[in-house]
Amino acid sequence: MLRSKITGTGSALPEKILTNSDLERMVDTSDEWITTRTGIKQRRIAAEGQFTSTFAVEASRSALAMAGVKAEELDLIILGTVTPDFPFPSTACIVQHEIGAVNAAAFDLSAACSGFIYGLSIADKYIRCGDAKKVLVIGAEVLSRVVDWTDRNTCILFGDGSGAAVVEASQGDCGILSTHIFSNGSYWDTLYQPGCGNRNPATSEQTIAERLFYIKMEGNDVFKHAVRAMEEAACTALSANGMTPADVSLLIPHQANRRIIDATAKRLGITEEDRVVINLHNYGNTSSASIPISLDEANRSGRMKTGDIVLLDAFGGGFTYGSALIRC
Ligand code: UT7
Repeated sequence: MLRSKITGTGSALPEKILTNSDLERMVDTSDEWITTRTGIKQRRIAAEGQFTSTFAVEASRSALAMAGVKAEELDLIILGTVTPDFPFPSTACIVQHEIGAVNAAAFDLSAACSGFIYGLSIADKYIRCGDAKKVLVIGAEVLSRVVDWTDRNTCILFGDGSGAAVVEASQGDCGILSTHIFSNGSYWDTLYQPGCGNRNPATSEQTIAERLFYIKMEGNDVFKHAVRAMEEAACTALSANGMTPADVSLLIPHQANRRIIDATAKRLGITEEDRVVINLHNYGNTSSASIPISLDEANRSGRMKTGDIVLLDAFGGGFTYGSALIRC
């Protein structure tokens, strides 16, 4: 059976670390509050001269090297991001140029924290229908440049980085079993960046006066929806494949808040620590990059063995949410 299979993963993070103690000196917060409410201890912050494409290129090179695929073999590059280098051209085109993927079509995808799973879903469909053989899927963000560093409700949460995966056509039982993507646009203004699109242009006085270029979030609302939606996405993937949570070797959830991850895992009955990938204490919420960074870390540390069932589960602004079930 023709399937798509992840044959290489990579990730890239800025060197600069911003700890909770650093944040204590910037806003009215504490390490204790951030740790108990979110599980985050530190996050990585891009330096001057580093952009979303900087990390996307590094993660992509690493994924291509693991897969043993040359950039010119790629048919498609899909890059999930809400913090592109420019409104246009796409950051995916910049990555294409930098890595030398001269035969690929390249585009960005806006699905916030679900961006990587949305991208994986498109890659899977292109491969299964025979229109592509090798696809590079990337999640990359520099959120630190759209975070209001005076707003303690949001600035403690986010971080920068990128993860990437090479997805290839393959025959057999292993690979991506299914992907499932969902949206609920009724909540579009619950988590968003009001300024810098054409409703509130970057140049307008209102955008500047009301600080509309920064992320705004109704944290409590997002939290409640995230838990329910991630459970729904996970259960959809399992039932589509005649499986139950007991079949899952590894859950790789979006890394937004430790309490969201714990609540989702508990609802699914996946409570053992070694069955859930958690790294948000190190990186915070890197939006579309969070799942591919986690996937790469799990892959490189030997947590994904042949035959294992891995469940990817995401939720983000839009709202968007989605899942992917993989047999390693
Ligand atoms: O990537 C997907 C999208 N993002 C998410 O999934 C994030 C979802 N939301 C969350 O993770 C949580 O809602 C937050 C971590 C953002 C907030 O946690 P919470 O338990 O929902 O706190 P809260 O917003 O209900 O605030 C509780 C209190 C408030 O004070 P009062 O009104 O009770 O006096 C806040 O003002 O905590 C206060 N607070 C803080 N205190 C210290 C809010 N932020 C901070 C802070 N430090 N950084």
